[in-house]
Amino acid sequence: MATVLVTGGMGFIGSHTVISLHNNGFDVVIADNLSNSKTEVLNRLETITGKRFKFYKVDCCNKEELRKVFEENDIDSVIHFAGLKAVGESVRMPVEYYSNNINSLLTVVTLMNEFGVKKIVFSSSATVYGESEDVPFTEESPLGTCTNPYGWTKWMLEQVLRDCSVAYPELRVCLLRYFNPVGAHESGLIGEDPRGIPNNLFPYISKVAAGTLEKLTVFGNDYDTPDGTCLRDYIHVCDLADGHVRSLNYLATQSEGVSVFNLGTGKGTSVVEAIKAFEKACGHEIPHVFGPRRAGDIPVCYASTDKAREVLGFEAKRTIEDMCSSCWNWQTKNPQGLPED
Ligand code: NAD
Ligand code: UD1
Repeated sequence: MATVLVTGGMGFIGSHTVISLHNNGFDVVIADNLSNSKTEVLNRLETITGKRFKFYKVDCCNKEELRKVFEENDIDSVIHFAGLKAVGESVRMPVEYYSNNINSLLTVVTLMNEFGVKKIVFSSSATVYGESEDVPFTEESPLGTCTNPYGWTKWMLEQVLRDCSVAYPELRVCLLRYFNPVGAHESGLIGEDPRGIPNNLFPYISKVAAGTLEKLTVFGNDYDTPDGTCLRDYIHVCDLADGHVRSLNYLATQSEGVSVFNLGTGKGTSVVEAIKAFEKACGHEIPHVFGPRRAGDIPVCYASTDKAREVLGFEAKRTIEDMCSSCWNWQTKNPQGLPED
């Protein structure tokens, strides 16, 4: 059984991916410093899968700590989720974002070289396409100019991995550009568990639906879109998780090089449509008001999914209704999020 090192595996996307990996016959080792996640995730994963995953509380920027993980396990491949991801925070704390996101990947790649590990899947983002309005985004769409340090770290790290693949010809890399991952595992045991007031739409709507926050402000309703609000490509996190398994299987068939895939549904949903779908899921109205546009938002962003379908056989199966109902199930079962460590 091939062992996959999942860095950041206690986080939102990582924890769902751990389940998919397990269900598809992979052995998993998790490395996470718990800077944005909680130990309880491990218990929840055990309840869902019946398996206690091997977990190292390590900072991926710390080479000596992380080396232990490579020494003690026969690692076949890495999925690298470990990173900081809050756009607004990255503007306030650029040094922390560049330092954490860049050093963690550089350390992982250094140790992969040292231990002869040849396959890596990297969490990138549609944010690398910048502010272009030329949708849908294909993998060949030009990379844009990012509007914040978080986005730049993704942009730079894609380049780092391209450079590494030239220098280390046996290295096989998948760059996965996620669109808007939302939803939660059907059990309601794990889901997105942000600290403080959420910045992103789905966690915010959930908290309004639960009554923890008073109302949602829709950022702009004067865009050139059917209902005036922005369109985004929301993808269920469990579909996204399956995309990682397919990417690993694909890398196993490759001998070198970098492959890039969009992971989205190919469909744009407006903020108003998302609110309506969530209202259906929770059975009551979501109080909301229309406010000014948020700086840096583009009107429309969705993926071309052709390449992922043709090459990986990947197709997102779950609907916006599934995303809302799973999100609501997670919210109602864990109104305060997961217990603190
Ligand atoms: P998350 O914060 O829930 O998970 C990231 C995990 O990495 C956390 O558990 C955190 O504790 C850990 N981590 C951070 N820095 C670390 C370090 N130096 N060493 C060890 N662990 C560290 O975020 P997520 O939503 O699951 O995102 C996972 C990855 O996908 C991130 O790289 C993120 O940038 C990327 N991504 C996320 C989205 C999204 O909307 N959620 C979209 C595009 C890309
Ligand atoms: C955000 C990130 C982006 C990241 C992506 C992945 C920002 C600025 N961008 O994108 O870098 O790759 O997540 O998921 O954070 N909205 C409201 N009211 C709210 C919150 C959001 O109307 O309270 C709207 C936004 O204007 C946007 C849509 O909802 O039109 C989705 O917003 P969000 O969930 O923050 O995602 P993105 O901005 O697409």
